[in-house]
Amino acid sequence: MDRILVTGGTGYIGSHTVVELQQSGFEVIIVDNLVNSNVDVLCGIEKITGVRPIFENVDCTEYVNLDRTIEKYPGIKAIIHFAALKAVGESVSHPLEYYRNNLVSLINLLELMPKHKIENIVFSSSCTVYGQPDVLPVTEDAPIKKALSPYGNTKKIAEDIITDTINANHALSAILLRYFNPIGAHPSAEIGELPNGVPNNLLPYITQTAIGLRSELKVFGNDYNTPDGSCIRDYINVVDLAKAHVIAVQRMLQKKQKSDVEIFNLGTGRGLSVLELLDIFQKVNKVKVPYKIVGRREGDIEQVWANPARANKELGWKAQSSVEDTLKSAWKWELKLKERREK
Ligand code: NAD
Ligand code: WQD
Repeated sequence: MDRILVTGGTGYIGSHTVVELQQSGFEVIIVDNLVNSNVDVLCGIEKITGVRPIFENVDCTEYVNLDRTIEKYPGIKAIIHFAALKAVGESVSHPLEYYRNNLVSLINLLELMPKHKIENIVFSSSCTVYGQPDVLPVTEDAPIKKALSPYGNTKKIAEDIITDTINANHALSAILLRYFNPIGAHPSAEIGELPNGVPNNLLPYITQTAIGLRSELKVFGNDYNTPDGSCIRDYINVVDLAKAHVIAVQRMLQKKQKSDVEIFNLGTGRGLSVLELLDIFQKVNKVKVPYKIVGRREGDIEQVWANPARANKELGWKAQSSVEDTLKSAWKWELKLKERREK
């Protein structure tokens, strides 16, 4: 059974990826310091797969602890590096925390890979590196734009660090996965998104408003140059996204030739506006979400959606879930969270 190290594996996307890795026959070791997740996620994963992943509560910025941890698990075939801080607004007010956390974690892993004979890394990047693309849908060859936040800059810098490292060390390989907007939850409702505090992202804010935790959704602007005036994004089901990571790992393990960096957009290829998503959510879940149009949010780009052709062709991966099913999964998860709170 091939061993995969998953940093940030108790997080939103990481936990869904651990499920898919286990169900594809991999042994998973999670390294996470729980700064933005909860150890109970391991129970959720075990309920779905029957296997409780190995978990190490370690901060990836701590080189010695990370080294000792990797030492405990010889034969790791690949790392999937999810661990990062990701709150855009917080990164503006606490830039150094974001640069330290997100970049030192990555540098530690890259330094430890040759030492532990780990040849492959999959990195969580983001469509945020494109800024507002000049051409839509956006391909991987689109120009990388100046980051709109320190968080976004950590993704851009991380991609450069990985590329430069691999250009210098031909024994390593990397796949950079640029996620668009991951949404939804595992259909079992055993795992899902667990935003800390007030959600920054649209869908958790919608579901928390629908369940009564929030009084109303603020729609940040309807005066954009889009059909209904609200921003357009490419919302991708988190399980579809997780499946792409398994395929990426399998691709690297099958490759003989190393020392290359591949980049893939992970999106549906379909743009949806805020108001469209809100409308579909209410319709499929038969719930009302009170909302108010307010001013634009600082730093928001107007519209972005993926051209996923390269991932479709090279990885043989395509987003499968309908937005309707995805929004149902998000609501089912919010209902499960309510049930847990009321226990
Ligand atoms: P998340 O916050 O749910 O998961 C990240 C996990 O990493 C958390 O469990 C957190 O505790 C852990 N972590 C953070 N710093 C750590 C450290 N120093 N050492 C060990 N663990 C650490 O976030 P997510 O939504 O699952 O995102 C996963 C990755 O995908 C991140 O790199 C994020 O930047 C990237 N990404 C997310 C989105 C999105 O919309 N969710 C979009 C594009 C890219
Ligand atoms: C989507 C749309 C908002 C909340 C962010 C990060 C990106 C990545 C994904 C980590 C926008 C609107 C939102 C609300 C709203 N994260 N909105 N009311 O901004 O596309 O991307 O998350 O990598 O890096 O920037 O996602 O969900 O915050 O917003 O109107 O309460 O919903 O204006 O148009 P975004 P989002």
